[in-house]
Amino acid sequence: MSNPVPDAIIYIDPDQPMNLQNQIRQRLVDGILNGSFAPGMKLPSSRKLAKQLDVARNTVVAAYQQLIADGYLVSRQRSGIFVNEEMLEARVGHRNVSSPAAKAESAAWQRRIREMPAQRREVHDQPNWRHYPFPFIDGKFDATLFPIAEWREANRLSLGVADVAEWSTGSGDADDPMLIEEIRTKILTRRGIQAGPDEILITMGTQNSLYLISQLLADPATTFAVEEPGNYEMRNLVHQQGAAVKTQAVDNGGLVVDEQLADVDVVYVTPSHQIPTAATMPLERRQALIHAAADHDFLIIEDDYECETNYMDHPLPALRSMNTDGRVIYAASFSKALAPGVRFGFLVANPDFIRRARQLRRKILNHPPLNNQRTAAYFLSLGHYDALMLRLGRVFRERRIELRDALNNIRGIPLEISPEVGGTTYWVRTPREFDVANLTKEAEKHGILIEPVQHYYADTDHAENCFRMGVTSIAADQIRPGVAQLVKLIRSLVKEQVEHLSNSAGRWLTGDELKETGCRSQRRWLCLCLRRNQIRPRRCRTRMGNPWISAIGSARCRYFAARTEHDDGYGILNAIRRTRSGR
Ligand SMILES: Cc1ncc(COP(=O)(O)O)c(C=O)c1O
Repeated sequence: MSNPVPDAIIYIDPDQPMNLQNQIRQRLVDGILNGSFAPGMKLPSSRKLAKQLDVARNTVVAAYQQLIADGYLVSRQRSGIFVNEEMLEARVGHRNVSSPAAKAESAAWQRRIREMPAQRREVHDQPNWRHYPFPFIDGKFDATLFPIAEWREANRLSLGVADVAEWSTGSGDADDPMLIEEIRTKILTRRGIQAGPDEILITMGTQNSLYLISQLLADPATTFAVEEPGNYEMRNLVHQQGAAVKTQAVDNGGLVVDEQLADVDVVYVTPSHQIPTAATMPLERRQALIHAAADHDFLIIEDDYECETNYMDHPLPALRSMNTDGRVIYAASFSKALAPGVRFGFLVANPDFIRRARQLRRKILNHPPLNNQRTAAYFLSLGHYDALMLRLGRVFRERRIELRDALNNIRGIPLEISPEVGGTTYWVRTPREFDVANLTKEAEKHGILIEPVQHYYADTDHAENCFRMGVTSIAADQIRPGVAQLVKLIRSLVKEQVEHLSNSAGRWLTGDELKETGCRSQRRWLCLCLRRNQIRPRRCRTRMGNPWISAIGSARCRYFAARTEHDDGYGILNAIRRTRSGR
């Protein structure tokens, strides 16, 4: 694989026009100036960095030499190459970030900051995912699918003299009327939605729409129901506004509609393809949700995520298209179909809500760029959007079938995959004791990206044995080789998973596992025994001191698995004792 650089201090992009030597110089200079590489820090040897970056050693040597000549680095005989401590001091405005003055200043603004989004569970993209041969991660865009010629044509038309005259002066806070009309007649009709121009607001993608909605609806007096597992970004937004977040279970039909929703003010739901399970909400449940909204007087935010990639013959109507008394606020995005970089989405809601959302949007930006809105309008009006939908449907279906078949043909490892519902992902469940976090890390080292799923859960104790595999960013012919490599890796990890006392990581027993032991009281002793390399919780029958048995006395116990040569169980006993005394 070209450049996964898991341990390298910088990464480079072989596809960039800038040559490799200059890229290395630029990345190092950036790191030194922004403080990532502290003054005095030792850099990897040229040999090591060249290996990590998969470039010729001479390329790194030349970059280092130039940086030494420029004063960014210093070379010390027989010690190596270091960031020049004097370099930053010589710069106007530089302050040592760890100096007392800088610390005091930092405390001064930190005290005043109202919200620390970083304290919430944030998920960061793998920036160089493109360089991995097997990027099975969902939602990343395959640039080869972008309709370059068609977008260029639409863009050229938007630069006509009359068009420029329309969009160049700005419009206050109005959107491009041509785009609104195209969305109304070409996109919303596909989803069964009828809307007037005053019921539509253009946004910079669904994330932007959800931000506007959360600002308008969430406050400490409101309760939002969100899917569990579900969109963590929405949870964070609602939380940030001080509203209560109530998690609502998800099953094969998406969000479960039951009495739990009786006391909420707003329900956020992804009915087309539930994020992250990809379940599609059936019609009856859609109707039940609409009825529940009327009965219990709550609003619904319908995030029509991935409505484009529904391969069913008759896509189900959007909730917004059903008879809802205007209770549904609908959000959709061009990110999956066109490209996330285009940053376009839109909201559909009743005119009063849209008016308020527009006022709020105006505080951030008057409107998304009108030249781009006009380009999107031409793109739709020329029929390119519909043609693109068809093409993407074909491509993603083919890739998805490829992935399904590859996963279904695995022998010897019990992997369970989600039922066929469309979308672009599969939800993969491994045996319960398998360590998916470790698999994710190891897979990355082998050029395979998969997505762990814990961050979709508000309750971290769930689904540690699941991961997602998507097909939006991987070519069809890479899917089978990628799955084959992954399976090979899983097999080797299963073998390695035989733990020893010295390397045992241990894990929390779940409530279900505790129940399985038949131990009714949390205070009763639990015992664990070892049979044919499997940890089995067992009802305690014998006295302490029996090598098969150890005792733990709380509902959430940490036990250590020592699946080992010690098939007699001594290993386990000792390991548990070690934990107990170490607690
Ligand atoms: C649930 C959900 N809705 C919508 C989107 C699209 O968001 P945006 O339009 O901001 O790219 C995403 C992106 O991953 C998502 O996870």
